Amino acid sequence: MASRTRPTGHTRLRTLTLSGTAAIILALVVSLLPNLAQAAETTLGAAAAQSGRYFGAAVAANKLSDSAYTTILNREFNSVTPENEMKIDATEPQQNNFTFSNADRIVNHATSRGWKVRGHTLAWHSQQPGWMQGMEGTTLRNAMLNHVTRVATYYRGKIYSWDVVNEAFEDGNSGARRNSNLQRTGNDWIEAAFRAADAADPNAKLCYNDYNTDNWTWAKTQAVYNMVRDFKSRGVPIDCVGFQSHFNANSPYNSNYRTTLSSFAALGVDVQITELDIEGSGTTQANTFRSVVSDCLAVARCNGVTVWGVRDCDSWRSSGTPLLFECNGNKKAAYTATLEALNSASRVAV
Ligand code: XIL
Repeated sequence: MASRTRPTGHTRLRTLTLSGTAAIILALVVSLLPNLAQAAETTLGAAAAQSGRYFGAAVAANKLSDSAYTTILNREFNSVTPENEMKIDATEPQQNNFTFSNADRIVNHATSRGWKVRGHTLAWHSQQPGWMQGMEGTTLRNAMLNHVTRVATYYRGKIYSWDVVNEAFEDGNSGARRNSNLQRTGNDWIEAAFRAADAADPNAKLCYNDYNTDNWTWAKTQAVYNMVRDFKSRGVPIDCVGFQSHFNANSPYNSNYRTTLSSFAALGVDVQITELDIEGSGTTQANTFRSVVSDCLAVARCNGVTVWGVRDCDSWRSSGTPLLFECNGNKKAAYTATLEALNSASRVAV
């Protein structure tokens, strides 16, 4: 009978209740969707901050008066590294005559906005002032230690992490120290620099920084790893290792990068990606940025990422278009991939 197939009053009520519940669930989902979407941050710095990390850029003091440049810098980043202004030739152009004005412009720009500053760099074979280039032996050792002490003391309390020593190892398969005038003062010059920096600014994280140390299988990576392990075992005050990560055809990203970061972290140091640029374009470049950022996020002791410039034409390797913004300020595919990777991190501070 047709009447038996018609819903009874009770059944109709249940149907109504069910569809009412479904409607409420649907309404909830719909109302939550915009909130979920809003949870994805829209700038690199804010996205990195969700997991307690920073996202920085190398900054040149003379570009701080370029509003197209500062518009991007101020919107996207929350950490800076002076690209050249804290190097030895910039801060001590004549022996014992220190100049900090260009570095100070960058530091003030950052600290007034609550950003971090990575200091770069206290002891390095390159960009030495003329007076230092010709020095050797005890004279050079003492001049280097004086430089470390004076610069780290001047900036005490303002620097999140210092690249105390930069690029002290040779490329290739030797695993040897680079033959520089600093190395010739004695093999202990690196730890001496770290002890001087620690005495001058005990609260800054003190980093060893290098390039071609990204691929876990490379001899240079292993040589730096062994030095850091030795330093930790002997109580040399090292807190972090910086991976410059200038990737190109000769020094390509390898998927063992995550192993490199986590292996160093397991020694009891923080790790930081300090000078990231990836030559290339389009999807390939974007995917490599995504991988690098995801690798940092996968390692609890990876504090953050710094790209080595803002727009492609700000890059020291501009012909390789290795950065996140076009010269006209437009966001590249590499930017979108980087932001997505940062947003996919856990929202809990690590
Ligand atoms: C580069 C700067 O970007 C250039 O402007 C400068 O002419 C040379 O140095 N490793 C480092 C950085 O540690 O200091 C270098 O910066 C890039 C390679």
